[in-house]
Amino acid sequence: MRPAQQEDTDMSSDLSSPATQTFEIRPSAHPRSLAQRRQALTDLAFGTVFTDHMARATWTAERGWSDRRVEAYGPLSLDPAAAVLHYAQEIFEGLKAYRHEDGSVWAFRPELNAARFAASARRLALPELPEADFLASIDALAHTDVEWVPSSPGSTLYLRPFMFASEAFLGVRPSRQVEYLLIASPSGPYFTSGFSPVSIWVAEGFHRAGPGGTGAAKCGGNYAASLLPQQQAADNGCAQVCFLDAATETYIEELGGMNMFVITRDGAVHTPELSGTILEGVTRRSILQLVADDGREVHERPITLAEVKEGVADGTITEVFACGTAAVVTPIGTLKGTDFDLTVGDGSAGPVTEDLYTHLTDLQFGRRADDYGWMRRLV
Ligand code: COI
Repeated sequence: MRPAQQEDTDMSSDLSSPATQTFEIRPSAHPRSLAQRRQALTDLAFGTVFTDHMARATWTAERGWSDRRVEAYGPLSLDPAAAVLHYAQEIFEGLKAYRHEDGSVWAFRPELNAARFAASARRLALPELPEADFLASIDALAHTDVEWVPSSPGSTLYLRPFMFASEAFLGVRPSRQVEYLLIASPSGPYFTSGFSPVSIWVAEGFHRAGPGGTGAAKCGGNYAASLLPQQQAADNGCAQVCFLDAATETYIEELGGMNMFVITRDGAVHTPELSGTILEGVTRRSILQLVADDGREVHERPITLAEVKEGVADGTITEVFACGTAAVVTPIGTLKGTDFDLTVGDGSAGPVTEDLYTHLTDLQFGRRADDYGWMRRLV
């Protein structure tokens, strides 16, 4: 088993920090065989296959973070009274490891995920995991399970860090014991259709988040709240649900698990502003930078459903797309609600959406120079 420390290479300066040595590697006694791994890496779906190991650390109010380790992937032993099972004190992140043509493995802006994880922890009254530990866990797991990083086109190793309240206690207060875990899933595209337009259902009467709530945090509860309206979306032939603001049901906010952008005929780019109820996506932030540097007008602002409907109907809005780590950039071809069914443009992916998809994925897979310094080498 290779140690979780990078060998000396010209690109490894930030990998040799002491933090990369803090996750002790305890190799699985039952790693899958080469044949089993090859089989598991064939025809990858999203989030259904998991690697041989997981990274882990434990926090207690008395000791802080300890027991940083990488161990065999497997079921957790949890007391039925564990607070997370009752009060949903839990947060998570999503990022990917990309295999480049030369075999090296890279992450895209993982320090932003570390910062958001810390912000989510604060909102959910969980302990913050230091950035160095977050990054070290990724380095350690990527080294340990490097053979699980797929190289088939468009596939990645999806990384899922999460943290939950593990104290056995039924009183409602922040847990005094917490587990941090990082699991990894070799994955294909989030939408089985890949880069092709999806339909969106605009939810009525259901909201993902309200003012002062947890909408800006990446916590399981937000996603639990999205499941029933997401089911309604599916019942109406749509791939994703779009939520309006809870206070007025006027403004579009975000989709069940991704942010949303609108392109107008003048080439300007619009996305809902960060109002406290929207998750700040790493992909959203990166796209804002790319389009601004491309000389486009950028508007982070409240966007009403009425103007989107009107703009799509009269052609002022030429493109709509979703974005996120899992979704990357996904064109939206149809917008539906209880009393409307609108096709965006001619229903196919527009040029701005396609350019952004290509730009981002070329950068992430090492087919384009990393002018922004966004990529971090893992292996
Ligand atoms: C991501 O894009 O990584 C997400 O977390 C969205 C979804 C898979 C929950």
